[in-house]
Amino acid sequence: MSNSIFRKKSIDKILADVKSGFSDAEHTGGHLKKELNVKDLTLMGIAAVVGAGIFSTIGLASFHGGPGVTILFVITAVTCGFSALCYAEFASRIPVAGSAYTYAYASFGELIAWIIGWDLLMEYAIGNIAVAVSWSTYFVNLLEGFNIHVPVYLTMDYYSAFSAHQQIQELTASHHLSDITDTLKQGAMAWNTAPGFEGFKLIANIPALAIVIAITYLVYIGIRETKKATNAMVILKIAIVVAVIAIGFFYVTPANWHPFMPNGFGGVMKGVSGVFFAYIGFDAISTTAEECQSPQRDLPRGMIYSLIICTVLYILIALVLTGMVSYKKLAVGDPLAYVFNQVHLTKISGIISFSAVIATASVLLIFQLGQPRIWMSMSRDGLLPKIFSRIHPKFHTPSFSTIVTGFVVGVPALFLNLTIVTDLTSIGTLFAFVLVCGGVLLLPREEAQKGRFHLPYINAKWIVPALFIICVYVFRKDLQGLFTETQDRDSLPFFLFIILSAVLAVLAFIKNLSLIPVLGLLSCFYLMTQLGYTNWLRFSIWLVIGLVIYFTYSYKNSVLGKEA
Ligand code: ALA
Repeated sequence: MSNSIFRKKSIDKILADVKSGFSDAEHTGGHLKKELNVKDLTLMGIAAVVGAGIFSTIGLASFHGGPGVTILFVITAVTCGFSALCYAEFASRIPVAGSAYTYAYASFGELIAWIIGWDLLMEYAIGNIAVAVSWSTYFVNLLEGFNIHVPVYLTMDYYSAFSAHQQIQELTASHHLSDITDTLKQGAMAWNTAPGFEGFKLIANIPALAIVIAITYLVYIGIRETKKATNAMVILKIAIVVAVIAIGFFYVTPANWHPFMPNGFGGVMKGVSGVFFAYIGFDAISTTAEECQSPQRDLPRGMIYSLIICTVLYILIALVLTGMVSYKKLAVGDPLAYVFNQVHLTKISGIISFSAVIATASVLLIFQLGQPRIWMSMSRDGLLPKIFSRIHPKFHTPSFSTIVTGFVVGVPALFLNLTIVTDLTSIGTLFAFVLVCGGVLLLPREEAQKGRFHLPYINAKWIVPALFIICVYVFRKDLQGLFTETQDRDSLPFFLFIILSAVLAVLAFIKNLSLIPVLGLLSCFYLMTQLGYTNWLRFSIWLVIGLVIYFTYSYKNSVLGKEA
């Protein structure tokens, strides 16, 4: 029995478990059919990616960054591209379901695997809270189109209503009436009309809870998105995004693109979590490895192709949105429908709301299916209680995990604000990407094998130190500021980033590291630094809770630990 917290599950054992039906195959009621090809995988990638991000969070990102938000879409795409290549390297070496959690268990041992599994909760469950909130905004919009009016205090979270009420009071007192946006007006209306007294008011996002209950029910009784349903959904999403671009293009007023970065680069970078959120999901297709005809060849391609297609669509959408109306108006939860309303194309706005309701529901379904299955894998490894891998006798689904996921997503969706959950999801997912990129650096280099994806090896020996020196020179003023000025807490993550970059530059020089994972690690970490001290604090608390659970429960109950 190994006592080490870094005990590893061998790839042979993982593959043997898969063969004996111990893996995810079981819950589907038999062996998984190997029928997915590159086209299916690409479409599945798009299905998981296009959702709340492009339908909702792009609004606030554009409000802060102006048309310059397009630059952020490029930066984020490149960052995700490096990470996708690293995921691809893992998927090609360990072609089994379980994604980053399984990769980590085989490569770095149990503790890191636990951390990734714990961290994926942020991507899947917390991410789904954001998707549910976004769904609610479009759903309410759609109902409005049919003249059905839900009281506004039942369609939003408490904090947004309260802060909108306060902001309006401040803006009115300081005579900045032109800064009062539609979103603020809505929030204040919720606050003023909600039943209750003083600070205790009934304000909750009921449609968000309702959709989570509905989707959880579907997942519980065993609905799986079939290949056909996924393909149809993706075609609908792409059609609507292309239609927004094509029609919106005729309503662009080029004057709206000036100035391109009204709040400077800092304003653009304020949108990091919203924009990164829009890209999350391409990694989820790595969980289908056992259903691919040729996972080692097709999974990497599927991830990269879906990423490229989404990047092109996103950049065009960002340009069209910020060209149709002034960026100042875009701080809304349903920007795609909103801009068409603004140019008086209300029918099109209605069609967009309808499509968004379906498109975001499909993202909800994918992640609501994924989360219980990650818990199931962890439970089978003994890292979570047995009940998490209980399979429903009739529906063949992980019943308990599915219900817990429903609670974990549904209840906070009533009360949490979109920005808070997007920030948490983005920082958690970026951290998972950091571990995957860092992990690839630790893998032994492999002989090229035909039909398998291999991460191209480019020696980082000179490139990374040179990049580091150039960056230090270019940003010397900001860096001096780091050491001389009175520090605000938000510069602490950036300070850590500089230290990490220096260490990696030295390691790259000494150990001839591979360039792509190093750049992936640095770019993900850089985006994390833009998320502010509060998010780092919340995320650290989250990790500490995870570690406490690992050492008090999982370490002692690990199946690997009990085996001779
Ligand atoms: N990228 C996914 C979305 O935007 C999570 O909904």
